[in-house]
Amino acid sequence: MKVKGRRTGHCYAGTGRTVKRAWCTGRIVVLCVAACLLMSSCQGVRKEEEKKSIRIGISLYRGDDTFINNIRSIIEEKAKEYERESGIKVTLDIQEAKGSQNTQNNQVERFISLGCDVLCINPVDRMDTSLIIDKAMTAGVPVVFFNRQPVEEDMNRWDKLFYVGVDAKETAVLQGKMVVDLYRKQPEAVDLNGDGVVSYVMLEGESSHQDSLIRTEWSVQTLKDGGVPIEKLTGGIANWERSQASALMEQWLEKYPGRIELVICNNDDMALGAIDAMERAGAEGISVVGIDGTTPGLAAVENGKLMGTVSIDKAQYAGAILAIAAGEASGWESEPELELEEGKYYQCPWQIVVKN
Ligand code: GAL
Repeated sequence: MKVKGRRTGHCYAGTGRTVKRAWCTGRIVVLCVAACLLMSSCQGVRKEEEKKSIRIGISLYRGDDTFINNIRSIIEEKAKEYERESGIKVTLDIQEAKGSQNTQNNQVERFISLGCDVLCINPVDRMDTSLIIDKAMTAGVPVVFFNRQPVEEDMNRWDKLFYVGVDAKETAVLQGKMVVDLYRKQPEAVDLNGDGVVSYVMLEGESSHQDSLIRTEWSVQTLKDGGVPIEKLTGGIANWERSQASALMEQWLEKYPGRIELVICNNDDMALGAIDAMERAGAEGISVVGIDGTTPGLAAVENGKLMGTVSIDKAQYAGAILAIAAGEASGWESEPELELEEGKYYQCPWQIVVKN
């Protein structure tokens, strides 16, 4: 597998609360924080008496989302690592909201009543986080939101609200770039019928998700900017889901027999769904591109089914969530050594992954 265009994190000079090079050079956050905890010379100052244990309440918008599940497992690993390195016991209480904001609000209430020191919330409805924020503010419990970005107005309500995610535009630009590169090297690989135009279909994530619209717009814009002649046959919303994408693709293959040359997908799971439909229909040669770099997504690149993906650095992603949470919960005066835009936003690095 070939890895290109490694992007090693953002360095927003002067905008962060605390800046340490380790964050920008790909070192795992938690190690750095843990090392600081062990070193008396560390510059972080503790507000309170040293904590021996911390409790973190985590709520996921759904438990069956592949990317979120990848992040969840790494958070669990990072928590163990943090425990080993710092000697502070970490209790993770992880709940799935099953797509219901109401359920998630109740979970938040329960976390607070259980005495959680900090919450990590993957909101069901990113436009509707005000109740969570109200409860957290009243209880004085900081919140690290991730993956589904609350609106700015909500994020600005308190300085103990954080967000960890990925720059949707930049990942989409890289997705488009994968296709531009392929077209320049080997136009016949994406213009299968040689008519001088690449005919594509688009699979989009949830319409309410900040990533969907931006990824859709910028992958296509990058193809145009890169001089790839394109024609959109059709597109549809498959809500990040493999099965929904597979059903749509099945219809499109019937409707446009032999005409689809490229499938642009807002995430890997939908790309895998498109590939499932292609396999069922015996359609060959169509290029499919995704975003996420999930475990099955990367395996599909490796075995040549997925042309490429933009792989999010999941270790950094989960590491950042845990480091901010642990930093807040253990009472540091300064936040962990990680660059936070406007003091609250962390954008994870990513890289293109294509088969050699
Ligand atoms: C996106 C990711 C999708 C899905 C979604 C859930 O950023 O690419 O695969 O996990 O978040 O909110």
